[in-house]
Amino acid sequence: MKTIIKKVDPGSPDAEVIEEAGRILRSGGLVAFPTETVYGLGGDALNPESSRKIYAAKGRPSDNPLIVHIADLKDLERIAEEVPGNAKLLMNEYWPGPVTMIFQKTEEVPTETTGGLPTVAVRFPSHPTARALIRAAGGFVAAPSANASGRPSPTSARHVKQDLDGRIEMIIDGGSSAIGLESTIVDFTEEIPVILRPGFINYEMLSEVLGEVKVDPGILSEDQNVRPKAPGMRYRHYAPKAPLIVVEGERGPVTEMIRTLVGKAAAQGKRTAVLCSDETAAFYENAANSSVMVSPVGSLEKEESIAKHLFGQLRIFDENNIDIIYSEAFETPRLGQAIMNRLLKAAGHTVVRAEGPFAREERYE
Ligand code: TXA
Ligand code: MG
Repeated sequence: MKTIIKKVDPGSPDAEVIEEAGRILRSGGLVAFPTETVYGLGGDALNPESSRKIYAAKGRPSDNPLIVHIADLKDLERIAEEVPGNAKLLMNEYWPGPVTMIFQKTEEVPTETTGGLPTVAVRFPSHPTARALIRAAGGFVAAPSANASGRPSPTSARHVKQDLDGRIEMIIDGGSSAIGLESTIVDFTEEIPVILRPGFINYEMLSEVLGEVKVDPGILSEDQNVRPKAPGMRYRHYAPKAPLIVVEGERGPVTEMIRTLVGKAAAQGKRTAVLCSDETAAFYENAANSSVMVSPVGSLEKEESIAKHLFGQLRIFDENNIDIIYSEAFETPRLGQAIMNRLLKAAGHTVVRAEGPFAREERYE
């Protein structure tokens, strides 16, 4: 299959491109498109055959449910049974926007789309191109992130092409994603709402609107036996090909430890990279008198920039055939929960704590 790529002005996409993409979706084909979080791989959410194609194109296990995207609040009742009052409050505050809500599904939503579950995840994105496309498609677009399963989510059309070229009908190129991390997911099928995936709408913002909110223990635990409720959060994910080790602690010991680790890896002839903040990048230059790839991902003073560039940076390590990556921890005040959730998954929870000159680096030799 030849994948057509169409560039649009993200704020006001060309009507002909949207019409063509809408036709593809209505006839059961797949179109990748930009949203404010990451790029999505869209198919008609009410057509089981489209959902099967999405799983096949991504190489995704078919028990991992898809999010249904809408572009009009009144469409919610066709797919969701029982929308509780506190969910409506959240919609008032943050829809359209980067938060997904889970409800009991109606008969209209095929179980192929929900990975066999009786519930449905619904998202109303704010991105103008996404909304125009959803309308052109008939109102209900199932869209996981448009990466091959296991790879970092795509934040540009180029990333989508790397993973899905030749496997889908069309990619709409609307430039780079504004947020860069996937939507926050909140489950409203329990008595007290539960955060299944942290995102740009963070814990504090949610509790301000909802009062009591729980966090799914499965997303906090390193223990394989504590299973996250969102099936997609159970898989190894976002992972670059090289092992990634997160070093946490105070800035001084962290930079010192990473310099030491980098020196050792480089001495063994490994292609080594450091994922760090703009503020600390200078500490690693010439760390090993070698060609260490120092990769500042964004500024600690502007944590949105770290979120926005994280996934793209993980892809760059693959493109450069890096053998080992050492990363700082980014425990920033507002987005740290979401950033660290993705980074720790990419690292398979390999974390070292730098506690001073005699930190536990020997564990990683
Ligand atoms: O920002 C986003 O949410 C992006 C853009 C494209 O909208 N989409 C996205 O979809 O991240 P995906 O499929 O990559 O991640 C959806 C997550 C998965 O972890 C999945 O298991 C979970 O949501 N999920 C979907 N439906 C669910 C349900 N009914 N119950 C529990 N978890 C669900
Ligand atoms: Mg995904």
